Amino acid sequence: MAPNPGLLTAAVQVRDLVRRYDDRAVLDGVDLDIAPGEFVALLGKSGSGKSTLLRALAGLDFGVDGAGELVVPANVSVVFQDSRLLPWARVLENVVLGLGGAGERGRQSLDEVGLAGRESAWPNELSGGEQQRVALARSLVREPELLLADEPFGALDALTRLKMHVLLRKLCAAHQPAVLLVTHDVDEAIVLADRVIVLDEGKLVAEERIELAAPRSPADPGFSAVRSRLLDALGVSL
Ligand SMILES: Nc1ncnc2c1ncn2[C@@H]1O[C@H](COP(=O)(O)OP(=O)(O)OP(=O)(O)O)[C@@H](O)[C@H]1O
Ligand SMILES: [Mg+2]
Repeated sequence: MAPNPGLLTAAVQVRDLVRRYDDRAVLDGVDLDIAPGEFVALLGKSGSGKSTLLRALAGLDFGVDGAGELVVPANVSVVFQDSRLLPWARVLENVVLGLGGAGERGRQSLDEVGLAGRESAWPNELSGGEQQRVALARSLVREPELLLADEPFGALDALTRLKMHVLLRKLCAAHQPAVLLVTHDVDEAIVLADRVIVLDEGKLVAEERIELAAPRSPADPGFSAVRSRLLDALGVSL
């Protein structure tokens, strides 16, 4: 059979993915492809299985009951809601941990996230937003083909969040990883993603390709139309 070129070029392929906790299917037949360099945002109610899907893609759900096919690139980085920096290691050491002799690359990454000069700081000397920037630097210094992010800005104030959006877009344009971003924030999803998907009752129930011109503004009528369709899919009626 001739190979399917579409499948050969996907960064992520998920087929009929099932994950069960206590015999309850939290993911119940999820199919998802992510193209190289594509930015996908994942929305869903609390408890809908977003983190479960992300952990499956990250290979962090060893031992969990399930089935299905999962193809991900070899080089995957994960960013969580809290930065998970090691408190006993300085900022630069956190960024290059396990990379061996990558100090210069680490410095460049810190520069990219606007933290040049903070290499020797301890994590607890940084603000929450700065710590998340270190976490992004730590992910991107590894040049991942897939970046998985689970509500990475969820704990930040609104202004810092907006700044992080600008930074993330810039970093993704420069490094072009495929991205799966889990978020509760519909506007954040629309501002950042090429495609937004919605998980409900263990299945992907909606998909919106976002073709709005940059910079995307929530004041734009096209933006509001997409937002209402996504809120509908999330079961929120305004
Ligand atoms: N280790 C576990 N053992 C048992 N049940 C679990 C486990 N991890 C998750 N679950 C259950 O699976 C369901 C989906 O959880 P998950 O963390 O994926 O949701 P989520 O969509 O990320 O929610 P949130 O938006 O609140 O982060 C929840 O009902 C949760 O209780
Ligand atoms: Mg979650």
